Amino acid sequence: MNVYDSERMTSALGARGYVETTSPEDADMILLNTCHIREKAAEKIYSELGRYKPLKAAKPDLKIGVAGCVAQAEGPEIMRRQPMVDLVVGPQAYHRLPEMEEQVAKGGKPVNTDFPAEDKFDHLPHSQKAKRAPSAFLTVQEGCDKFCAFCVVPYTRGTEVSRPVVKIIEEARDLVDRGVVEINLLGQNVNAYHGHHEGQEWGLARLIRKLAEMDELKRIRFTTSHPNDMDDDLIAAHGDTEKLMPYLHLPVQAGSDKILKAMNRKHTAAYYLRLIQRIRAARPDIALSGDFIVGFPGETEEDFQATLSLCREVRYAQAYSFKYSARPGTPAAEQTPVDEAEKSDRLSRLQALLTKHQTEFQQSMVGKTLPVLLEKPGRLDGQMVGKSEFLQAVHMDAPQNLTGAIVQAEILHSEKNSLAGRLR
Ligand code: 5AD
Ligand code: SF4
Repeated sequence: MNVYDSERMTSALGARGYVETTSPEDADMILLNTCHIREKAAEKIYSELGRYKPLKAAKPDLKIGVAGCVAQAEGPEIMRRQPMVDLVVGPQAYHRLPEMEEQVAKGGKPVNTDFPAEDKFDHLPHSQKAKRAPSAFLTVQEGCDKFCAFCVVPYTRGTEVSRPVVKIIEEARDLVDRGVVEINLLGQNVNAYHGHHEGQEWGLARLIRKLAEMDELKRIRFTTSHPNDMDDDLIAAHGDTEKLMPYLHLPVQAGSDKILKAMNRKHTAAYYLRLIQRIRAARPDIALSGDFIVGFPGETEEDFQATLSLCREVRYAQAYSFKYSARPGTPAAEQTPVDEAEKSDRLSRLQALLTKHQTEFQQSMVGKTLPVLLEKPGRLDGQMVGKSEFLQAVHMDAPQNLTGAIVQAEILHSEKNSLAGRLR
């Protein structure tokens, strides 16, 4: 989502003559796009800002902005802690960036963390028909109404809002016209999508089926989903819609029903496992991915063991795991924390298990021939890197003019996070 948002900020500032640069020394404006999900991510921005102090001293015209969810949550506080910041913009107000930049040029210090009543996506300047990388993100919904007890998203991104079907199709059409062959539909709670079209309500599966009708579009993905919004149609789509890739990120967070209840997840471990069975019945080879939090307040060793046992049952192809981090304003932040050393110990035990499963999954690809969408040059000369259907990075020797092509690659060996292959 933040990568997509950064693209939108770049394109909004294009209206004021800005183009992207990769080096802070070259920049007339530095915009930090920030994440508020855990304390570590949020604190990072202050050290990052510190690094730009000498640049700002040497070039007083340099504009420094903070965007994203930390901006949303701590707007005025950021200006107080770091007076060199010129503008603060929350995720709902990126379409306001051009006028905010103008205010800064006139000596102002704008802070915009409003939730607009109008469709903020409407305010984006029309894209120039520039060619795009083969794989693109497309936001279909934003925000979340679930209010998991640990999570800031409903506060920073607001309640769930789905974009209308026609807008999404228009944006998809534009992407495809610019060379995109894979679209990753985005939303904090993407499978809660309920857009409107000609007086009807469309779920995510119906939207996916519609997008799949575009000939030039070859692959569709979506992220991130909630177990309670995995409806029958979406499960079926994994079996009957060829362009929908066999990869599903379906966070469960924990394996103990007591902890799931305390987290306000509104599902049990048994419900989740049954869901996984149904998804696998529709698409047996699907690669599953998840998110886990260890050390949520009240989590005992026995609760933690239930998380390990759920992982053993699912055998995730890939997963993200975190120590619980108390976030101001969330209900769980009021509760007694689990001891920090205990949290670290549980995280390393969980990660050892997840890594074992991930390595086995990666290893199982060796010797197979996989379709790979080539995306960009690889690390070594003459190499290209692309993605398998299971979202694995695959490196191989291939000419650059194959960018955007789906090639057949024989997998020669595997690493934890990537595969090496040979063009067939
Ligand atoms: N502490 C730790 N991890 C968190 N996540 C969300 N909030 C917190 C928190 N307070 C994790 C969840 C979520 C992922 C995006 O980040 O696992 O799925
Ligand atoms: Fe946060 Fe996801 Fe829960 Fe929504 S469903 S509150 S985004 S963890």
